[in-house]
Amino acid sequence: MVRTPDSADFYAGKRVLITGGLGFIGSNLARALVGHGAEVLIVDSLVPEYGGHLRNLHGIEKKVRVNLADVRDHHVLPVLLEGQDVLFNLAGQTSHLDSIQDPETDLEINCRAQLSILEACRRHNPGIAVVFASTRQIYGKPDYLPVDEKHPLRPVDVNGINKCAGEWYHTLYHQVHGLRTCVLRLTNTIGPRMRVKDARQTFLGVWVRQLLEGRSIEVWGGAVARFHPRGRLCGRPAARRAGPGGGRPGVQSRGRERVSLADLARLMVEVNGAGRGGAGVPGRAQEDRHRRLLRGLDAHPRNLGWTPRTALPAALRRTLAYYRKELKHYL
Ligand SMILES: NC(=O)c1ccc[n+]([C@@H]2O[C@H](COP(=O)([O-])OP(=O)(O)OC[C@H]3O[C@@H](n4cnc5c(N)ncnc54)[C@H](O)[C@@H]3O)[C@@H](O)[C@H]2O)c1
Repeated sequence: MVRTPDSADFYAGKRVLITGGLGFIGSNLARALVGHGAEVLIVDSLVPEYGGHLRNLHGIEKKVRVNLADVRDHHVLPVLLEGQDVLFNLAGQTSHLDSIQDPETDLEINCRAQLSILEACRRHNPGIAVVFASTRQIYGKPDYLPVDEKHPLRPVDVNGINKCAGEWYHTLYHQVHGLRTCVLRLTNTIGPRMRVKDARQTFLGVWVRQLLEGRSIEVWGGAVARFHPRGRLCGRPAARRAGPGGGRPGVQSRGRERVSLADLARLMVEVNGAGRGGAGVPGRAQEDRHRRLLRGLDAHPRNLGWTPRTALPAALRRTLAYYRKELKHYL
């Protein structure tokens, strides 16, 4: 969520619609908004292959309203949008591989439905503020790092192309119709309630599962490396900072720093050990480095008033702690 010093006041009493609100990001957002006193309506189709899960609302079930509907059904949109102040438009098909294997579905959800949603806003609720979740994937293989907004767009899969179109529709509806839209390009996000069943949402999810089940994490790069839960490195580490697909970077953490996949796997193993008995806690120096990088974002010229508050080791620790208790609900 975009946090400004007065965001708590802003959302108190506001009516907020979250499409995809049973998913990873949407449910965490719903939780935060409920905490700020917003009236939250969630719309989600709960397709099993996607990240939506009723368990994601555990503890706030009675504080939000849920409408099981599909945003591809344009007949339901006017009713859902009626009286809403803010729309967090998060419903999406997120798997890059699925978008190649079933491009039509990706097109329907990530492109066509976005146009329908914007049309419904224009006709039935033109005052609504809309936040659209796009993806860093639209940049494709980066020319330079860290990637910034000036980087050329070069999507490498159907999902990236449809997400680009979704973005452009949101921008166009602002320019032409004056709708209050904005677009966020999200990158590998991690946290409680992410999909861990498989790698459909992100490879990080399946790594969490593998670690908690005592299995090795496999990292693909210039060479394959395996990271054993007890911290043993099997095979050769990735020869360069590259992810699956050869030329991609590792995780670009907080938009400023790049963490190679091998380093990330190593960190996850360490953090997991820490949660199970105190061994392998990331060093103080490492924590301090991550905190300094977080502070560095404040200086970004396109700062939206949002400052990341959770360093990578802490985010991993929190995620692993959540799934240590909750994994059985998500498999
Ligand atoms: N998680 C990330 O790292 C990441 C990165 C970049 C972009 N994003 C974008 O952020 C948004 C949320 O992602 P997430 O990680 O929470 O994924 P998620 O799969 O957990 O959540 C998406 C939700 O949308 C719902 N949904 C899908 N199609 C729908 C439809 N036709 N009608 C109604 N609901 C539908 C799913 O059931 C799911 O609950 C997505 O648009 C995604 O593309 C996420």
